[in-house]
Amino acid sequence: MDRIRIVGGNELKGIIPISGAKNAALPLMIASLLTSDTLTLENVPHLADVEQLLRILGNHGVDIAVNGRRESQRDAYSRTIHFTCRTIVDTTAPYELVSTMRASFWVIGPLLAREGKARVSLPGGCAIGTRPVDLFIDGLQALGATMEIDGGYINATAPKGGLIGARYTFPKVSVGATHVMMMAATLARGTTVIGNAAREPEVSDLAACLNAMGAKITGAGTSTITIEGVSSLSGARHRVLPDRIETGTYAMAVAMTGGDVVLENTDISLLENAVEAIRRSGATIEPVEGGFRVARHGGVIRPVDVVTEPYPGFPTDLQAQFMGLMTRAQGVSHVTETIFENRFMHVQELARLGAKITLSGQTARIEGVEKLRGAQVMATDLRASVSLVIAGLAAEGETWVSRVYHLDRGFERLEEKLTNCGAIVERVRD
Ligand code: UD1
Repeated sequence: MDRIRIVGGNELKGIIPISGAKNAALPLMIASLLTSDTLTLENVPHLADVEQLLRILGNHGVDIAVNGRRESQRDAYSRTIHFTCRTIVDTTAPYELVSTMRASFWVIGPLLAREGKARVSLPGGCAIGTRPVDLFIDGLQALGATMEIDGGYINATAPKGGLIGARYTFPKVSVGATHVMMMAATLARGTTVIGNAAREPEVSDLAACLNAMGAKITGAGTSTITIEGVSSLSGARHRVLPDRIETGTYAMAVAMTGGDVVLENTDISLLENAVEAIRRSGATIEPVEGGFRVARHGGVIRPVDVVTEPYPGFPTDLQAQFMGLMTRAQGVSHVTETIFENRFMHVQELARLGAKITLSGQTARIEGVEKLRGAQVMATDLRASVSLVIAGLAAEGETWVSRVYHLDRGFERLEEKLTNCGAIVERVRD
């Protein structure tokens, strides 16, 4: 199994191109099931989760054509992928394919909308909490679907004549359930109004793509989304928005190691809350053409408290990385996790590097230390694993991160991007 070896201590200097967002690419790819025409997505990141979803979509009958290109530094990592689903050949998403990635469960929305039925295995994914599917079930039921759980699968059936538009307010904000309900409602009869919808930029990106395909969606990006059903959708061409979590991760890495890096192909407005927290920690951030520049030249890292919240709050997907940054702050900070109940698995690994963190319920108290020291650590989930990498960059000596397949799910060419900025990071194949 691959491991990552990091020799800490170097400042980061240079340019990091930001990839397309994993969390936007996945639902956008799934949207290809809604039409028999070709959906072309640009700026699709090359990640294990994307590859897995390609397999899943192939199983449903989606024809996939990938155009690799490396024309210029600006989009060196992006791929353009054409998805064509003339007919859905299978409405079952089997356990073997769905269990490794939670987002693959989302095919339930388009399958149900287009074919009137779906049999989808209950999901898997990162072990960061129980992550039930009750909101998906309630939302699709509101559109008239019959939902039954049977042998680890959900059998969903639309009423004769298809799903029916409805007014439904989620009792809790869910990104995935918002994506699914929005996709399902595009082909429903009548108008759907989703209340307490997720406001994440990835939801807006999906809505923009669906609208380009002929859907009639308004209000995406606010907590009320209105979808006027149409009888069919057509193909479209859409560019996946930049990955705000990757962006924030590298910004925090620079804030931690010191240095001066331009994050390219990204947009500061996608992560204002996190940018504010990084600024308060002592780094400077300034917008530049097509991205922003983050720098810290000496000076201390100041302690900053954060609480994770649905967008536009501080993202749970940057919580572990920010905690990594805070391990070296001069003073005590607190990080409170409100989205997932079990998202502190990085704490014991950061402690192996010398961090002083105590947990009390959903809040971590971090007492900054002057130095972290390299150690052997284990990646436990996608975002936790990258927090160990950035802590390793700022630690003295060698850090070895094992189980790096977690990183490969969500960070495109991590070692290359960091090495180009002067870090010593290498993948070792055992
Ligand atoms: C998405 C992101 C993930 C991010 C998360 C929260 C993707 C591919 N993944 O995951 O990176 O960490 O949003 O920003 O975009 N919940 C229920 N019942 C449900 C569904 C969810 O109780 O039916 C709960 C979850 O357990 C969790 C909370 O709602 O506590 C938010 O989860 P949700 O927004 O659905 O996360 P995902 O869409 O799975």
